[in-house]
Amino acid sequence: MKIKVKVNGAWREDEVEPRLLLVHYLRDVAGLTGTHIGCETSICGACTVLVNGEAVKSCTLFAVQADGAEILTIEGLAPDGQLHPLQQGFWEEHGLQCGFCTPGMILASYQLLKRNPHPSPEEIRQGLEGNLCRCTGYQHIVKAVEWAAARMSS
Ligand code: FES
Ligand code: FES
Repeated sequence: MKIKVKVNGAWREDEVEPRLLLVHYLRDVAGLTGTHIGCETSICGACTVLVNGEAVKSCTLFAVQADGAEILTIEGLAPDGQLHPLQQGFWEEHGLQCGFCTPGMILASYQLLKRNPHPSPEEIRQGLEGNLCRCTGYQHIVKAVEWAAARMSS
């Protein structure tokens, strides 16, 4: 089947198998390997991207279900090499160790800050409860999101 999607601002058309998951489409067809695959069963959030502005676990969708959609991946947050405040925040506050969860964490945080530009630490934890991290203990991730929230509202 042919699908047409806008990925990080650029439309593209591709022929895909109906069973191809969106995460595999993004990584293997579009070459955007910043979107990670962890569990492939909708638990870990490593594959989170934005589809029409909503944070979505891209292992839970078929690529054909995204036909016509606008998709933002981690690569699209820094198109000209200038880090997004969330990326900078994870850097400044040591919000990552191995980094495997980080693209998903950042895109889930992106949606969170769009809906609530000044979240409390508790609201950040709730907003990111669908994203698992095996390394950080989450405290530095919460601080990273707070750092970005402060920067984005200044
Ligand atoms: S790989 Fe999609 S939720 Fe884990
Ligand atoms: S930094 Fe390693 S899983 Fe989160």
